[in-house]
Amino acid sequence: KPILAPEFSSCHLPNDLPSKPRVTNCCPPNSKDFIHFSDHLKYTSKKVRARRPAHILAYDKEYVSKFERAIAEMKKLPPEDPRSFVQQAKIHCAYCNGGYPQSPTNDKTLQVHFSWLFPPFHRWYLYFFERILAELIDDPTFAIPFWNWDDPDGMHMPIMYADNIDSPLYDCFRNRAHVPPKFLDLNYSRSAGDILADDITLTNNNLKILHTRIVDNNTPELFLGKCYHLGSEASRLHSGAGSLEIIHNTLHAWVGDPFMPNNEDMGNFYSSGFDTLFYAHHANVDRLWSVWKELDGGTRTDFTCKDWLNTEFIFYDQKKIPVKVTVAECLSDEKDLFYKYEGAENTWKDPNN
Ligand code: C2O
Repeated sequence: KPILAPEFSSCHLPNDLPSKPRVTNCCPPNSKDFIHFSDHLKYTSKKVRARRPAHILAYDKEYVSKFERAIAEMKKLPPEDPRSFVQQAKIHCAYCNGGYPQSPTNDKTLQVHFSWLFPPFHRWYLYFFERILAELIDDPTFAIPFWNWDDPDGMHMPIMYADNIDSPLYDCFRNRAHVPPKFLDLNYSRSAGDILADDITLTNNNLKILHTRIVDNNTPELFLGKCYHLGSEASRLHSGAGSLEIIHNTLHAWVGDPFMPNNEDMGNFYSSGFDTLFYAHHANVDRLWSVWKELDGGTRTDFTCKDWLNTEFIFYDQKKIPVKVTVAECLSDEKDLFYKYEGAENTWKDPNN
């Protein structure tokens, strides 16, 4: 059986928080009503929007100021507003640190990592985050940027997030040794720390890792993750993470502040959403899912089993209305959700990597 959307009223204090967390209650405002995605689309623009690489958008002053304005507006909303930045950030904590039961009659906790739920959950999460930003600046064509960390030109923290402490995109809980122009290391681990290597060596290593994780992992199970349905256990110890999730974890650890007790913000589930960079990072993860499906002449497929397709999530939309969505409704970024990715080259595809 698939996991159905949790009731907001079933949200409880997360039972899987690390010690000394910055927040302890991650529950959204309560509401019994909800609509389906098709109803939400009735009042939402269907014009296709383009998400572009953050390292290129950094030179587009108009875009950066619009994006900053949208995030600033979101941060200004009262914390009880489900569209506020705090509430958006808490979504990750509630769905990932044990804020919901899997169902009203099951005592297991809902976990959207370590399984096949990882790609679709985060796709939906960003979709609503983006629709809210667009609404706040009254521009339905607005699209979030993506951190193109799989491209040699994007292998550093995107400048617009890191160069100005007064920007709403800035977050002080990041690894200070990893601000630009520090080069990304996809082999990074917190325990080993930074290695001494020049940018060219790192580029080559990174491209090799990407090639292996994306090109070689050619089945949905290997790339998207193992199955997870009602009654399944997913945790660090019982991990069914696919290779997409595995690469993405490294960036979380690399961005998080090693001097914080739990590597906050990006280095822990509960706090990740408090860093604006989280959403750009996940936009790239989301893009790689779409790119992966086009490899081998488009013969790679998503899962086709009902338990995956019928899994539900629930999010507040730009009108503060709870919307129930399914995995089946999000399989095409452009046809189902009206956004696409532009401007990335995917150099790791090259078999020489
Ligand atoms: Cu929900 Cu990048 O993790």
